[in-house]
Formats: sequence, C-alpha cells, structure tokens
Amino acid sequence: VTDETVGPLYEERLGELAGKAVIAPGERHKTLASAQRVWQALVDCGVTRADHLLALGGGVVGDLAGFCAATYQRGVAVVHVPTTVVAQVDSAYGGKTGVDLPQAKNYVGAYHQPAGVLADPATLDTLAPAEHAAGWVEVLKTGLIAGGRLWDAVSQGAEVDERAILACARTKLAIVAADERDEGRRRVLNLGHTVGHAIEAATGYGAYRHGEAVGLGLLAALRLSGRDELRATVRELLDARGLPTSLAHAAPDDVLAALARDKKRLHGSVPFVLVREPGDVVVEPDVAAEEVASAVAELVR
Ligand SMILES: NC(=O)c1ccc[n+]([C@@H]2O[C@H](COP(=O)([O-])OP(=O)(O)OC[C@H]3O[C@@H](n4cnc5c(N)ncnc54)[C@H](O)[C@@H]3O)[C@@H](O)[C@H]2O)c1
Repeated sequence: VTDETVGPLYEERLGELAGKAVIAPGERHKTLASAQRVWQALVDCGVTRADHLLALGGGVVGDLAGFCAATYQRGVAVVHVPTTVVAQVDSAYGGKTGVDLPQAKNYVGAYHQPAGVLADPATLDTLAPAEHAAGWVEVLKTGLIAGGRLWDAVSQGAEVDERAILACARTKLAIVAADERDEGRRRVLNLGHTVGHAIEAATGYGAYRHGEAVGLGLLAALRLSGRDELRATVRELLDARGLPTSLAHAAPDDVLAALARDKKRLHGSVPFVLVREPGDVVVEPDVAAEEVASAVAELVR
C-alpha cells in the first residue's frame, strides 16, 4: 500500500510484490473509501493470513494500511516502510491504526502492532522541505516528553538524523511497551495533539499539515501548562522552521467544537497533556473549559 507520490520513488526497491494498492496522497484520503479500495486489492491479490502487507509511505499510508491489515480477515501482518519524518520518528511504531471521519480524526481504527519497521533515513531526501519541517514537530514533541539529551538537541536546532530518529523511536516504544492500549502513560504521547487534531478537523484536513497543526497544539498545551518561557522557546523554534505560530484558517469556536468531539473525551471533559518541564509531562483529566477556550483564542492573536 502506497500513495501516488511515494510509489514511483521507492516501490521498485521492495522487490517482487503480489500486487499493490495506490491511494492519492494526503490526509484527505485517510478515509473509509480508501480502506475499501485497499481491502478490495487484498481480495484481488488473494492475500491470506500467511502474507504481509507493506505500508510504503508517510503516516497516512501507514495508518490506513495498518487499519486494513488489522481488519482484513481479522488481521494480517503489516510491515511499515516509513518515508516521512512523521512516520520514521513516530507513526510507524506503536500499532495505532485508523482512518478519519469527516467530523473527527482517527475516529475508526484498531491497535495492530507491526511485524517490523524498516526506516531508511535516506528516503527523507526527497521529502518537500515543508513536509520535513512539519514532521520535525513530532521530534519537538518527543523532545519535550523525553527531556534530557533529545530536548537539548531539539532546542539547539539539531537536524533530524539517524540519532534523532532512533531516540524518538526508543522514547515512543518505551512508553507504548508500558501501556499499549492508551489507558495510562501512553496518553502523554498526545502532547499537542488534542488541539492539533481539532484544528485539522475544523479545517477539513486541508489547511494544515499534521505537524503544523500539532505545533499550534503544543503552543496551546504550554499555555495550559502555565509555562510561558518554554512556550516562547517553542514558538521561536517553530518560527525558525517557517512553521505557523498562529491560527489563520479556522475560528477558535470551530476548533473548540471539534475538540468537544475528541475521542479521548471521558465523562464530558477532554484530558490534556501538560508540561511541567522537558522530560516531566503529565495527563491532566480536568482542565477548565474557559482555560482551554482562552488558550485556543490566544492562537489567533
Ligand atoms: N499512528 C500513529 O501513532 C500516528 C502518530 C503520528 C501521526 N500519525 C498520522 O500520520 C499522518 C501524517 O503523516 P505524514 O506527515 O507522514 O503525512 P503523509 O503520509 O500525508 O505524507 C506527507 C506527504 O509527503 C509525501 N511523501 C511521503 N514520503 C515521501 C518521500 N520520501 N519523498 C517525497 N514525498 C513523500 C506524501 O505523498 C504526502 O504528500 C496523520 O494522519 C497523523 O494522524 C499517526
């Protein structure tokens, strides 16, 4: 499973394949309609539980292919071959798969751990600079969660190299190994994603790349954390990479409406991941609605 951009660049390196499903690139195609096409391709190729599905591409292809692998015949193996920064540092690991519904991100999905992940950093050379920058936001997020050397490197503007990719993968996998099903510690990986996903949904998945929306979400999370200096640092880091630091394509009310549909919502309130300092992040189940509204409103200024 690949998309129209990545397939022509790298599919021949995968060797002989039983067949393929190619989707149009971009978040707007992370849908049930695309899943239907992939399932159909699996049937047409006669895929059985003895086979592997390969996901060649970014997080969209990985989430979609993983979901199809989780559900086709109640589960066939998937191997991720991630080709974006987002996918190499984050989405290929941990087994979260799924597709979006028009109203909300990742609303239909399953946990399905990959049988393997083959990440070749050289594939990032063909990535558009704007995609590279947006993907770096997941490195920034992971640096805030991990603290220590990764945060030092990120805050000093280090580039995404093999070392950073491995550090991010290790951080994520250590957290996932302790809480595969998102019932506790894994929730910290959602840092910046609560507002980020709401921005993506409120803008029809077309105005911001995933990482760009998460960057804005990090600023909101740092406001809610009461960490003004750290927020200013993160804002500068985003700015230095040409990433958005203010919300231009959606009204705060629309973002708040999307936030209310967040699938992490329990008993009425959406939990937020807050940062005490890099390396010390906590899940706060009850953040006052007014504080959330003001953190989102501040993004427009
Ligand atoms: N499952 C998880 O744990 C998890 C974690 C983080 C993000 N995600 C998901 O990942 C998605 C975002 O992933 P993404 O940023 O990789 O987006 P993407 O898959 O849409 O890729 C971005 C763009 O880059 C192109 N591209 C990919 N690899 C390329 C290459 N090597 N050279 C040239 N072009 C290339 C793609 O065709 C696409 O146009 C979102 O849907 C998000 O929800 C999932």
